[in-house]
Amino acid sequence: MPSVFIKTYGCQMNERDSEAVAAQLVAKGYSLAPSEAIADVVLLNTCSVRDFAEQKAINKMKNLIGTARNERRSQVVGFMGCMAQSRGQELVDKLPDVDLVLGTQKFHRAAEYLDAILAGKREQIVDVAAEEKSEATIREHLLNGKSNKSVSAFVSIMQGCNQYCTFCIVPYTRGEERSRTIPDIVAECRELVAGGVKEITLLGQIVTSYGKRDYPLHDGKSGFVQLLEAVHEIAGLQRIRFTSPHPKGYGDDLVEAYARLPKLCESAHIPLQSGSDRILKLMHRGYTRERFLAIAKKLRAAKPNIGLTTDIIVGFPGETEEDFAETLSLCREVEFDNAYIFKYSERRDTPAAIMPDQLPQEIREERNHRLLETVNEIGKRKYDSFIGQQVQILVEGPSKKNAARFTGRTRCNRIVLFDGSERHRGELMDLKITRTGSFTLYGDPAIVNL
Ligand code: 5AD
Repeated sequence: MPSVFIKTYGCQMNERDSEAVAAQLVAKGYSLAPSEAIADVVLLNTCSVRDFAEQKAINKMKNLIGTARNERRSQVVGFMGCMAQSRGQELVDKLPDVDLVLGTQKFHRAAEYLDAILAGKREQIVDVAAEEKSEATIREHLLNGKSNKSVSAFVSIMQGCNQYCTFCIVPYTRGEERSRTIPDIVAECRELVAGGVKEITLLGQIVTSYGKRDYPLHDGKSGFVQLLEAVHEIAGLQRIRFTSPHPKGYGDDLVEAYARLPKLCESAHIPLQSGSDRILKLMHRGYTRERFLAIAKKLRAAKPNIGLTTDIIVGFPGETEEDFAETLSLCREVEFDNAYIFKYSERRDTPAAIMPDQLPQEIREERNHRLLETVNEIGKRKYDSFIGQQVQILVEGPSKKNAARFTGRTRCNRIVLFDGSERHRGELMDLKITRTGSFTLYGDPAIVNL
C-alpha cells in the first residue's frame, strides 16, 4: 500500500483541495505518511499568488529530488494546484525528475495517475487541461480521519474568478467562475454535520459571485444569499462562515443576512487592497474608498461586534506616497481587527506587470513595514478591549503551539486559548477573557461559572 504526503502552500482553498485529494487517495488504498521523508509519494500543492510562494515550492521540490537521489530511494514526486496549472510543461522541462504535474481542474484524477506511475505504466504525466464540471469534484473529506473529531469543515462552493483584477493571477490558474448547485452543496454539508461537524466555512475564490448564472436574483437575494439560507436550514449546524468575498458582493441582501441568519457568524474578511480610488481603479477592483467605508458601516450597524479583517497590497505600480497615505487613513477609519499585508509581486501575463512605474523593492518593503505597524497598533487596541468581556467559543481541540492548552474561536473569529480537555471538543463554551497575546485571547471558563 503506497503512502502519500501532501504539502500545501497558500490559501484555505488549497488546504481544502489537498484534503479532498488525500481523501480520494485513502479511498483508493493509499495511506497517509506522517512525513515526506518516508512517503512513497510526495505532492506539493502550490500557490501562485506571489513569486515568493512559487519559489518556495520549487526549492522544496529540488530538495526532495536531491535527498531521494542521495539516499538512493525512489520516491514519486509531483506538483499540483495553481503553479502546476500556470506553469505546466515548463515545470518538467526545468525539473525532469518530477513525475506528475496536476492542474487545478484535475485533482480528481490524482489516484488514477499515481497508480499508473507507480505501476510503471506511465513515466511522467502533465495534465493541466480544462475539464467541465470539475468544480463539483472537490467533495470528499477526511472527516475524523485522524484520531480527532473534526468540529469545523471547509466546503468548496465554486471555482474560478471573472473579476480580472490587474495584479492577480487567479483567473489564469483557477479559470472562469463555475458554481456547484445548491442541493449538491447542502448534501455535502448535511453529511459533514451528521459526522459531527458544527461549523462550516464556504469556500471559493470570489464567493459573493456564487451562482450568478444559475441562480438569478430572487426576492432581491443573490445566489450566494440563497445558498446561505439553504445551508442555514441544516439542523445541528451551529455556525456558518465564508471566504473570500469581494466588496462588490456586499449588497443589502448580504448585510441583512447577517442580521437575519443567527448561524452566520459576525465576521467578515473583505479584501480592500488599497485605500486610494486612483489605485483601486488601476487594480480594476470595481469600488471606491467611499463604497468600502459604507459597507463597513452598514455591517457594523447590523452587527456591532462584527470582526472585520482584510487583505492589502502595498507598492502597486505607480502607488505614490499620497495613495499610500489613503490606505493608512482608511485602515485607521475602519479599524480592522487584522489585515494581511502583501508587497506587490509582478505576476506574468497580468496587466499590472507591464504597467509603468513599477516601484523599487525598498519602497514596497518600507510601506509594508509602516502599514504593519499601524495595523498591529489598531489590532492590539481592539484585542485589549476584550479583557473582562464574556465570549462564546466553539472548542476546536488542543492548541497546535501548546498541546496543554485548548483552542476555540469566537463568533467574530478571534482565537481564544484556555485550559481545557478533550471533553470540551465541539462544545460551545462561555469564557471570560483574562488577557491577550499577539492576535490571541486567553479565557477562563471558571470565572463565568462562578
Ligand atoms: N502581489 C501581491 N499580493 C497579491 N495578492 C494577489 N495578487 C497579488 C500580487 N500580484 C494578494 C491580495 C489577495 C491575497 C490573497 O493575495 O491581497 O487578496
